[in-house]
Amino acid sequence: MSNIKELKNPNKIFEDAQDFLPLLGIDYVELYVGNSKQSTHYYKSVFGFQSEAYSGLETGNKETVSHVIRQEKIRLVLTSSYKKDTAVNKHFNKHGDGVKFIAFLVDDATKSFEETVKRGAKPYMNPVREQDENGYVVRSGIYTYGETIHLFVERNNYDGVFLPGFKKWDSSYNPQSIGLKYIDHVVGNVGWNEMNKWCKFYKEVLGFSQIISFDDDDISTEYTALMSKVMSNGNGRVKFPINEPAKGINKSQIEEYLDFYNGPGVQHLALATDDIINTVSELRKRGVEMLYVPETYYDTLIDRVGDITEDIKYLKEYGILIDRDDDGYLLQIFTKPLVDRPTLFFEIIQRKGAKSFGKGNFKALFVAIEAEQKSRGTL
Ligand code: FE2
Repeated sequence: MSNIKELKNPNKIFEDAQDFLPLLGIDYVELYVGNSKQSTHYYKSVFGFQSEAYSGLETGNKETVSHVIRQEKIRLVLTSSYKKDTAVNKHFNKHGDGVKFIAFLVDDATKSFEETVKRGAKPYMNPVREQDENGYVVRSGIYTYGETIHLFVERNNYDGVFLPGFKKWDSSYNPQSIGLKYIDHVVGNVGWNEMNKWCKFYKEVLGFSQIISFDDDDISTEYTALMSKVMSNGNGRVKFPINEPAKGINKSQIEEYLDFYNGPGVQHLALATDDIINTVSELRKRGVEMLYVPETYYDTLIDRVGDITEDIKYLKEYGILIDRDDDGYLLQIFTKPLVDRPTLFFEIIQRKGAKSFGKGNFKALFVAIEAEQKSRGTL
């Protein structure tokens, strides 16, 4: 029997979430990496991002270097350290390449900080006003799971390229976009028995609501298990699934992540496209390795998801997963880890009406990662 819990109609949930913290979307995601220059080249070449802004020695920044790249509404910042004892390098030594900041675009970064800290958030950065000839930006920040930070970015009075201190980065190397549009969701892996604590944090501190939950009966194999809940903000633009390990005979894939990342952190970023077949075809040409889905997944596809407009031949060839909720269906595929440690990966997602997630794909992802875990000897 399934223990999947569709708590309410997602549309209703989005209305129920509290609006003391209106989030206009994700402004940027910043990764701390070992080599910003080379990482940036990889994300541009493979995932089709374009150069946007730069901060480093040439702009007077003697401690850290950041390359900012963009595709439609997705903005990534790749930051490394010039010096050995910086916070950036300490983070990198401990976690490897990983997500440090998930920055929300807001109208008022001071109020966002005050409202969330009042509700129990641990402050990371008091509101700071940064200024240059293009105006000013106000940023503030609070801790979420592990050493991951949510920033609030207010940029209504700024028309520079990114932030004060950055210059526009004009590059002669502009690989073609692969059709990525926006960040659909950001998934966090947290420790044993911590999922409910962090769901409570998103609910009480950020005013999110839970849209779905999967327990270990939904997501398990003979050997391993995990649990997951999906939290969403009021307008549904920002979704944060939270995973925790669950007991099985062998080590959960969430534990594998926690071991290699040395604590909780971002497991994957889901990037939306409106033509997943084209996007994945392009990614394959550019050498991206995807998770393997057993061909038997497609045998009962139509029974499970009903009519779809895509040609199953391509979905099967590329290993694209399909699932359904009450509002429509969605297509998803997952890359293998983007970095040496089995930690961070990307998901490519196309929504055709579905606002939430389906259990079938969750399970399929879980099984595919378990197969990889086995090949790494960490199962
Ligand atoms: Fe996902």
